[in-house]
Amino acid sequence: MNVLVVGASRGIGLEFVRQYRAAGETVTATARSDDALQALRALGTRAIALDVTRTDSVGGLAWQIDGTAFDVAVIVAGVYRPRTSALEPPTDADFDTVMHTNVLGPMRVVSQIEPALAPGARLAMLSSRMGAIGPRTSASGWLYRASKAAANSVLKDCSTALAGRATCVSFHPGWVRTDMGGAGADLSVEQSVSGMRGVIARLTPADNGRFLDHDGSPIAW
Ligand SMILES: NC(=O)c1ccc[n+]([C@@H]2O[C@H](COP(=O)([O-])OP(=O)(O)OC[C@H]3O[C@@H](n4cnc5c(N)ncnc54)[C@H](OP(=O)(O)O)[C@@H]3O)[C@@H](O)[C@H]2O)c1
Repeated sequence: MNVLVVGASRGIGLEFVRQYRAAGETVTATARSDDALQALRALGTRAIALDVTRTDSVGGLAWQIDGTAFDVAVIVAGVYRPRTSALEPPTDADFDTVMHTNVLGPMRVVSQIEPALAPGARLAMLSSRMGAIGPRTSASGWLYRASKAAANSVLKDCSTALAGRATCVSFHPGWVRTDMGGAGADLSVEQSVSGMRGVIARLTPADNGRFLDHDGSPIAW
């Protein structure tokens, strides 16, 4: 398989790269820093420099992957800030960073990778249960929650626009021990990614447009 991982310098994205490489797949992965790009190349991937918030950077993605047909594409890049507990208003800078990374980024990345999706491809976007509106019982991190609710809307629109060509799903990876999730989280990055890889492998067109936990169980929007 040809696999694309967007946002693979560390955490969940890097683990997707490790596991797909260990399974013998051909992997293209993106990162922002030279060190991360070098580390990805050492894992046997084709590494591409990409900052999803920079128009010039995202705008160059399509031609760099031209000619490849991806069976699986996973959009992982994301940020969580600030760690608010109630209704503290975000600064302009935090609002722009979070919304540009978590919402505008996927919108632009999807338009770049759409022509490079193989027929019947699987497109997964890392969202969060915190973005679910129906089941919500807390307002903590409300800017991040708003961004992931918007990201879910983006994924749903992808599923409609790409129906018949690709199966698109939004993932909650679980609460995972990464820089973002922290040391006290429930799941190791290996457990989370191995669960999501299994779900991706079992996806059928009937799953198009679903919001799934890392173990494949459905989450209400
Ligand atoms: N960990 C959890 O418990 C959890 C729970 C729910 C959802 N998620 C979601 O899962 C995804 C991965 O989370 P994680 O835990 O692996 O987070 P992480 O360890 O903080 O890693 C975040 C990744 O996103 C990349 N990134 C951030 N801004 C970027 C930008 N402007 N352009 C390109 N890449 C950018 C980072 O690259 P740099 O190294 O260059 O900063 C890094 O590779 C995120 O979308 C997150 O919201 C995580």
